[in-house]
Amino acid sequence: MSYIKLDLEKSGLKKEEIMKYRDKVAEIHNELYEKSDDEKEFVGWLKLPTNYDKEEFERIKKCAERIKENSDIFLVIGIGGSYLGARAVIEALTNTFYNMLPNRKTPQILFVGNNMSPNYLNDLIELIGNKDLSINVISKSGTTTEPAMAFRIFREFMENKYGIDEARKRIYVTTDKEKGALKKLATEEEYETFVIPDNVGGRYSVLTAVGLLPIAVSGVSIDELMKGARKAQNKYCESDLKYNECYQYAVARNILYKNKKMIELLVSYEPKMQFVSEWWKQLYGESEGKEGKGIFPASVMFTTDLHSLGQYIQEGERDLFETVVNIENTATDITIKKDADNVDGLNFLADKTMSYVCKKAMEGTIEAHVSGNVPNILINMNKLDEENLGELIYFFELACAMSGRILGVNPFNQPGVEAYKHNMFKLLGKFDN
Ligand code: PA5
Repeated sequence: MSYIKLDLEKSGLKKEEIMKYRDKVAEIHNELYEKSDDEKEFVGWLKLPTNYDKEEFERIKKCAERIKENSDIFLVIGIGGSYLGARAVIEALTNTFYNMLPNRKTPQILFVGNNMSPNYLNDLIELIGNKDLSINVISKSGTTTEPAMAFRIFREFMENKYGIDEARKRIYVTTDKEKGALKKLATEEEYETFVIPDNVGGRYSVLTAVGLLPIAVSGVSIDELMKGARKAQNKYCESDLKYNECYQYAVARNILYKNKKMIELLVSYEPKMQFVSEWWKQLYGESEGKEGKGIFPASVMFTTDLHSLGQYIQEGERDLFETVVNIENTATDITIKKDADNVDGLNFLADKTMSYVCKKAMEGTIEAHVSGNVPNILINMNKLDEENLGELIYFFELACAMSGRILGVNPFNQPGVEAYKHNMFKLLGKFDN
């Protein structure tokens, strides 16, 4: 069973304050739904959990089986929205030490093309050694420098290792259906190709082939993930703010921002959620940070970061609020045993489970931070599995679109990303050739 529940009790916001946005929310909701079937608008993700390409979905599953059979390593080449979602789901739902597990039945999954470090690439090549591998290169534009560089290197690596014909069978491309250098190359080389729909932007694309192929290779059920997202699509299709918790989250963060809470800290107590936070930061940062506006999305992993950032959160600048993703039920647990000598003084925890101790740490932390004027938004999630995560992904995507529109920006473009690229290309002489 899955559920995501929003709790605004400790946000310091009153219901009436939130409900003032009722008309605005309904207006934006209708605008989003009106655009959802338009190929030219970036709102394709809205109905994706029901409208997805069923044929391609089955082909993804078959392809994942082939990769599992013939590869020790699966390399995912992509950056930003073209890798964060896959990594988030895989790390959240597999063993924390997945890539190091000796008896794993699925390939090691490694991500590359998301930085420009030669060390990273050389270290990776050393790690691959003689192992069998397959590659999934993912780029919607097909021209992004980091994945393009990595792919050039690994294409040659594959051709040297396997010969051109076998290399072709081990390279999978996820890109636009017709545009871009990658699409052209894929057609020429006859690589198996998956499509990123025109109306789904990079950071909203985890439930397309962008996320689904790597996720399926890891053994995580993409059927269950989509089921959770579908559940959320049905649950949050209500235009009335009063009954839509997803929109309430969007409104709450906007009110807090107006009250000079400029930074949102996404908090988790489960290290498996690290990359869900990274995915969330990109989603909200790229969608909202524009025109001199936007909440700065940051994240912390507790209790780890209570020992590094806890002091600042409790007593530093008062421009923070926290959104805690609380996973209510852990998959496994450990009970602390009683020790006859009690030298470490821990017998007050005897017979208690670690998950219980962690819950008390969370409750105590929320109370402390709220009393230190850090408003709290709580998102309760039943457990960490495919269905719940699918629901959470959809919840955050929809809330992000609503929140960006309330803020008055276009949550589907990213014009600011071009500035650094222009300078970098100029310095590298791209425009002279
Ligand atoms: O959300 C976005 O659109 C971006 O973060 C892109 O995903 C990222 O820049 C990678 O782009 P591409 O898939 O075209 O290589």
